[in-house]
Amino acid sequence: MWKDLDISLEKATDLKPRPSGEKLGFGQYFTDHMFRMDWNRKDGWHSARICPYQPFSMDPASTVLHYGQAIFEGLKAYRSGDDRLLLFRPEDNFKRMNDGAVRMSMPRFSVDQVLKALKALVYLDRDWIPTAEGASLYLRPTMIGVDPFLGLKPASTYIFYIIMSPVGAYYSEGFSPTRIYVCRDYVRAVKGGVGNVKTAGNYAASMLAAEKAKEAGYTQVLWLDACERKYIEEVGTSNIFFFINDTVITPPLSGSILGGITRDSVIQLLRSWDIAVEERQISIDEVIAASQDGSLKESFATGTAAVISPVGELFYDDVSHLVNNGQTGPLSVRIFEELQAIQFGRTEDRFGWTVTVC
Ligand code: COI
Repeated sequence: MWKDLDISLEKATDLKPRPSGEKLGFGQYFTDHMFRMDWNRKDGWHSARICPYQPFSMDPASTVLHYGQAIFEGLKAYRSGDDRLLLFRPEDNFKRMNDGAVRMSMPRFSVDQVLKALKALVYLDRDWIPTAEGASLYLRPTMIGVDPFLGLKPASTYIFYIIMSPVGAYYSEGFSPTRIYVCRDYVRAVKGGVGNVKTAGNYAASMLAAEKAKEAGYTQVLWLDACERKYIEEVGTSNIFFFINDTVITPPLSGSILGGITRDSVIQLLRSWDIAVEERQISIDEVIAASQDGSLKESFATGTAAVISPVGELFYDDVSHLVNNGQTGPLSVRIFEELQAIQFGRTEDRFGWTVTVC
């Protein structure tokens, strides 16, 4: 049922100055071009174009602005040492976005065609892919409902777009241990809701607790389940793992947490190294008990933006618990190095995760 999308190209005439590698931070700069396509009931997806990066004009009544019909993805393009441009598991991001579209009553799209557009966009702005160690080009596909109508129903017109931003480390700590505040006052999502969808409102709902944690000196919030406030869900914008005794434990994908692509990659890597991984419910009490009896060896969070971020401290119930004496542990280092080696094309990709742009 997908019509073949012709993608038109309008090149930017005024190219922006590129930021230097050391100053990148996260999400502050945007490349010269973007991709956009539109959807309506009659034509489906149409008017696909790569055009200069530019603002939208949107009706103030647009559905997304009132009822939050917005889904997005985060993935990265990497420059390898021998100058190849690589994407990491892009089809998985687009499949997840399509699943989110169904949950949010939004239209699905052809993964193949959008991947084709993404490759063309990355190729066109290839000079923006940073060369600094560990830096990459963050890609942000987004879909929003834009009907100028205030009645509550799914929009009948949508915009899908991709913007790109050269980035360094997400946290100012870089690949250093983070301080995590275990949150009991607020919850992120409930089962049956949209916690497993990368939709804008989930992030808005997380901001108050995250800002309070930051004011108290913590990097991020660790969320507990909404019913009992007992079982661990995820940390800030990432999935969470605990290395207890000889097993790595991570909460299962039971509907209220995001099915991270980095999470899945880490599970596959660990299993390929014969390290036991359990995807199961784990309570905060179990983690604190493991920290007290010394069996909690390491903890780390995983995400596209954050990559692997080691946890050095958990603050729970007014007590601070150091993880691995507040240091980054050897397993976190091994995972980080292997994942980045695959993503940057420094080692053989035995999982078939990388997609070459050129
Ligand atoms: C990502 O890791 O790609 C995300 O979308 C998290 C975002 C809050 C930066």
